[in-house]
Amino acid sequence: MSVHTEARKVTTHTLQEMKRAGEPITMLTAYDYSLAKLVDAAGVDVILVGDSASNVMAGQVTTVPITLEHMIYHAQCVQRAVDRALIVVDLPFGSYQGNSKQALDSSIRIMKEAEAHAVKLEGGSEVVESIRRILTAGIPVMGHLGLTPQSIYKFGTYTVRAKEEEEAEKLLTDARLLEEAGCFALVLEKIPRELASRVAKEVSIPVIGIGAGPDVDGQVLVLHDMLGITMDFSPRFLRRYLNLAESIDGAVKAYCADVRSKDFPNEEESYSS
Ligand code: KIV
Repeated sequence: MSVHTEARKVTTHTLQEMKRAGEPITMLTAYDYSLAKLVDAAGVDVILVGDSASNVMAGQVTTVPITLEHMIYHAQCVQRAVDRALIVVDLPFGSYQGNSKQALDSSIRIMKEAEAHAVKLEGGSEVVESIRRILTAGIPVMGHLGLTPQSIYKFGTYTVRAKEEEEAEKLLTDARLLEEAGCFALVLEKIPRELASRVAKEVSIPVIGIGAGPDVDGQVLVLHDMLGITMDFSPRFLRRYLNLAESIDGAVKAYCADVRSKDFPNEEESYSS
């Protein structure tokens, strides 16, 4: 029998068992009740309430502006919908970089107010003290290395990270450090597939990739990208499973035409006294 079964609730332990058994882990973002319910019912293993909500939900250019309050709100909406998936919530920019006490306080708020199952934060050696402190409270932590969008103003671009030897070595060292610190899993974003494969082999915790190639323990995509709602974002790693933008455009145009021609509502769609 596989580790992954439709009925069983997913825990951090399940993900570790899946890695050991060589079963790929599925992860998608969600930020609201209705879509989270559909995603959970379809059987995804992990739902990430990502700070990509800043772009996708709020139309911001970066993930920098989203606040802890916004993240808690989105996480509460998702939590009400989910029966099976593990819910991981991003600590937003400014809610953990100050010091480890701030990181712990922000994580406790997410766990208490949104009843999330784990938090995720970006960075390696720079944040390892905070990760250790969050773990002392029994809060599971997912790491995130490679392209870390909260540092966009340091990098200046969203291109592939760690192509050069020095940055690749730092990423490997950071991955080992996060494993040693006690992270239960690690996201690797937009790095060469060979490097991602090496990390996945060297660490015992699950490595989940986005733009990190196939030789890792699982994959994550932003839901609105893979459903074809956000059509202005087309990186090489993105596979679109639907073209919802076109379907929604067609549906809204048809509705407007029906209202304007007085075809909607018809007799059957109306109440009589
Ligand atoms: O916020 C997010 O959606 C993420 C994924 C890209 C991993 O961090």
